[in-house]
Amino acid sequence: MNTEERTSQQQTAEDKKKQEFLQNRGEIPRHIAVIMDGNGRWAKSRGSVRIAGHKAGVDSVKDIVEACGQLGVRHLTLYAFSTENWGRPKGEISALMKLLVQSLRSETRKLHENEIKLTSIGDRDRLPPTCRRELEEAISLTAENKTMELCLALSYSGRWDICQAVSRISQKVKDGELCPEEITNDVITDHLATAHIPDPDLIIRTSGEFRLSNFLLWQSAYSELYVTKTYWPDFRRDELYKALECFQNRERRFGKVSPPLELEESPLVIR
Ligand code: IPE
Ligand code: IPE
Ligand code: MG
Repeated sequence: MNTEERTSQQQTAEDKKKQEFLQNRGEIPRHIAVIMDGNGRWAKSRGSVRIAGHKAGVDSVKDIVEACGQLGVRHLTLYAFSTENWGRPKGEISALMKLLVQSLRSETRKLHENEIKLTSIGDRDRLPPTCRRELEEAISLTAENKTMELCLALSYSGRWDICQAVSRISQKVKDGELCPEEITNDVITDHLATAHIPDPDLIIRTSGEFRLSNFLLWQSAYSELYVTKTYWPDFRRDELYKALECFQNRERRFGKVSPPLELEESPLVIR
C-alpha cells in the first residue's frame, strides 16, 4: 500500500506497530516543528514546474499531521511560508496562497473530526483576504479541540516575531505597565507569537540544508535539530519515525551535566 492510499484509509497494523515501538522506546516530543523544504527541487528532479512540488507537499502535510496526532505529539508547527518568501515570483506566491485556501477548504473538516486545533503564527495582515478569511474560519471552528495543536507558520519569521514582541513590550514600558528591569526571558517569551506553545523539542528540516532560515529563532535555543536530505514531498511518516528514533538517541542537557556524571565523585574535590 502506498502512502497516498494510506492517508485516506484506516491505519495499517504494521504502522500501528511502528508507532507503538517508538512510544515504548522513549520520549515522543511534545512539540515538533518542521521546515518543509525542497518542493521546488523535488519537482525539478521530475522535470516538473515548482508548483507541482508544492502540490505534492500537501500530501506530506496530511500524512505527517495524521501520524503526529496518532503518536501523541501535542504541538506540530509547520513552516509553510516565510517573510522572505514574499520575495518569490508573483505567480509562485499566488499559486501557494491558492493551494493554502484549497487545502483549508478540503481538510478543515477532517482536522475537526480528529479533534485537532488549528492555529497560525505570522503576519496575517499580509495574507490575501480570501486566505485570511479561510484561515480564521478554520481556526475558530477548531478552537476548542484538545488532541493536538497544528500551528501554521505563515508569513512568519523569527525576526518578525522578535520585532513584534519588542514593539509590544516597549509600548507597555511607555504606558508605565512594565519597568525595563522587569524584562526577563519569560516576559519576552510571553510576547512572542508562540507564547501559548512550549519551545520545540525537535526541529526537522528536509532537503538537506543546515540552516534555520529565520524560523523560531528565540524558541529554538535548546531544540534538537534533525536534517534529512529527503525533499519535503517525499517526507512521509516512515521518515518521521527515523527522525523520532534519532531524537530518542539524543541526550538533552540544557547546559547542565548528565545525571550519572553529577553523581560521580570528582577527583578534583579537595577534602
Ligand atoms: C519549500 O520548498 C516551500 C516553501 C518555502 C514555500 P521550496 O519552494 O523552498 O523548494 P526548494 O527549496 O526551492 O527546492
Ligand atoms: C524555508 O525554506 C521556509 C519554508 C520552508 C517556508 P526556504 O526555501 O525559503 O529557505 P532558504 O531560502 O533555503 O534558506
Ligand atoms: Mg527552499
